Amino acid sequence: MNKSIAVIRGDGIGPEIVGQAMGVLDAVAAKYGHSFSYKEAPMGGNAIDAFGVPLPEESLKTCMESDSVLLGAVGGPKWDAQPSANRPERGLLKLRGAMGLYTNVRPARMFADLSAACPLRADIAAKGIDFVVVRELIGGVYFGSHATETVDGEQKATDIMAYTEHEIRRVAHVAFQMAQKRRGRVTSVDKANVLDTSRLWRRVVGEVASEYPDVELLHMYVDNAAMQIVRDPSQFDVIVTENLFGDILSDEASQITGSIGMIPSSSMGEGKRGLYEPIHGSAPDIAGQDKANPIGTILAAAMMLRYSFDMAAEADAVEAAVDAVLKEGYRCGDILQSGGTLVGCCEMGRLIRAHI
Ligand code: IPM
Ligand code: MG
Repeated sequence: MNKSIAVIRGDGIGPEIVGQAMGVLDAVAAKYGHSFSYKEAPMGGNAIDAFGVPLPEESLKTCMESDSVLLGAVGGPKWDAQPSANRPERGLLKLRGAMGLYTNVRPARMFADLSAACPLRADIAAKGIDFVVVRELIGGVYFGSHATETVDGEQKATDIMAYTEHEIRRVAHVAFQMAQKRRGRVTSVDKANVLDTSRLWRRVVGEVASEYPDVELLHMYVDNAAMQIVRDPSQFDVIVTENLFGDILSDEASQITGSIGMIPSSSMGEGKRGLYEPIHGSAPDIAGQDKANPIGTILAAAMMLRYSFDMAAEADAVEAAVDAVLKEGYRCGDILQSGGTLVGCCEMGRLIRAHI
């Protein structure tokens, strides 16, 4: 198969980790007889520097015309003084919105070989961690109106959180269908004791649930969910939640698996085109030093193979290669435990390619 991939290297460690993921994709192409063509789509702080805006029209066009998009990470302190409408992150939000990517899937799975890196008590970790956060990605407070004004001689800031029924319903369907292929349990997370958007969320998710009698639905307040994720993560199978809650809970969920550096994500809408990225940020403190862990991005590339290109065997091969390298004891700095062999970003990529 021939597939076109838009490549957003981004800022900080982005270019390093994306380079390694592309190397793994090339190894897959060589082994399985595919060809992947790449087209650069500058976005983030580097795009502000070069073009004055975080998401140039040309980059958006490249993404919309490709079969899929691979992204490293954007942002960094260099662009902190940008007006909020021109921050690097705005480019990412605009891209998600323009591509209609309403479902963000972030798996929280503990790798057997990394259980020592899990910060939870051993008896909690022993019960295993294997759940998925399904985050609504183009609604809620991220996409409501934002304003800062002067009122009575002081600054006042407002961010509007809004949801419509169809925005809730479409992502709920994705969560229930995912649970059907997993362990049949959806936990819907909201703050229905305080927020109107959450009360609507709870009602609509409940209605969608009636179409999936084989899936069990639980509702949970977000504060309780944040606590339950560290108290007993084994109770979760699929968590579905709105944009901001999902942003926060998915970072928490990733860290209990050992390292945020390991976790990929997919963002999809209708159709097969998706945006694939690690869930961590641009880590400017270690940028350019060959210290970044490329595994989150490599596993994001595996998700691209599986969900956008229907290449299940190829995706399995990438995941197996990551498992094999971990089993051999190779570790980047973020997941290094005593007894492991410390390797840099390039070497980790090379080791994984060698197993494809
Ligand atoms: C994420 C990130 C983004 C978000 C930022 C960079 C805008 O934290 O993908 O989780 O908040 O969605
Ligand atoms: Mg986040």
